[in-house]
Amino acid sequence: MFLKEFIKNKSTGALCASSQKLARAMIKDVGLENAKSIVEIGAGTGSFTQLILKEKPQDALFFAIEQNPLMAKELLSKFTNLDCEVCNAKFLAQMLEKRGLNAVDLVISGIPWTILKNEEQDELLALIHKNLKRGAYLSTFLYVLPTLAKRKFTKKLYANFSEIKTSKLVYGNIPPAIVYYCRK
Ligand SMILES: C[S@@+](CC[C@H](N)C(=O)[O-])C[C@H]1O[C@@H](n2cnc3c(N)ncnc32)[C@H](O)[C@@H]1O
Repeated sequence: MFLKEFIKNKSTGALCASSQKLARAMIKDVGLENAKSIVEIGAGTGSFTQLILKEKPQDALFFAIEQNPLMAKELLSKFTNLDCEVCNAKFLAQMLEKRGLNAVDLVISGIPWTILKNEEQDELLALIHKNLKRGAYLSTFLYVLPTLAKRKFTKKLYANFSEIKTSKLVYGNIPPAIVYYCRK
């Protein structure tokens, strides 16, 4: 599915789904266990979704956003009761409003940042930052590839968030990745 969609339309940004090692790293020390509201952006076929559903508080409000209809179809076939918006994350504010929220406790994002246009990166980062509660985290990852696009995007993360920690290199992922824990 990933490879097919990548060839057809590069917007998936990955040749295969993330590993469970990366999923574990994504939810480490970001307050998932106490979060009341959680959004996953770019859920794909659910590598992170599965773990979020398992580890979040039972009564937490959780929804996923996935813009690719084929990915979303597979996601919903795996997690039949999942609250999933099949659209672009740029409508985040409207999706929160629909659920009676104006900010959330945690955003977990698998968005393929480095293949987005500059303006899209800026718009989405600003939107996520605006819709996080103070002290809350955006947990997101980048593949460890020595590209200019990665360097430029990392700078943007540091410019937008007051505090950033990183995970150890997650080798058990193709390609290896690093998680950025960005605190508002
Ligand atoms: C690299 S894949 C990650 C999928 C999954 N989280 C994983 O790690 O296996 C990125 C996903 O983000 C979705 N995506 C990219 N840009 C998006 C956007 N602006 N809004 C919503 N989804 C987006 C893509 O369709 C794709 O499924």
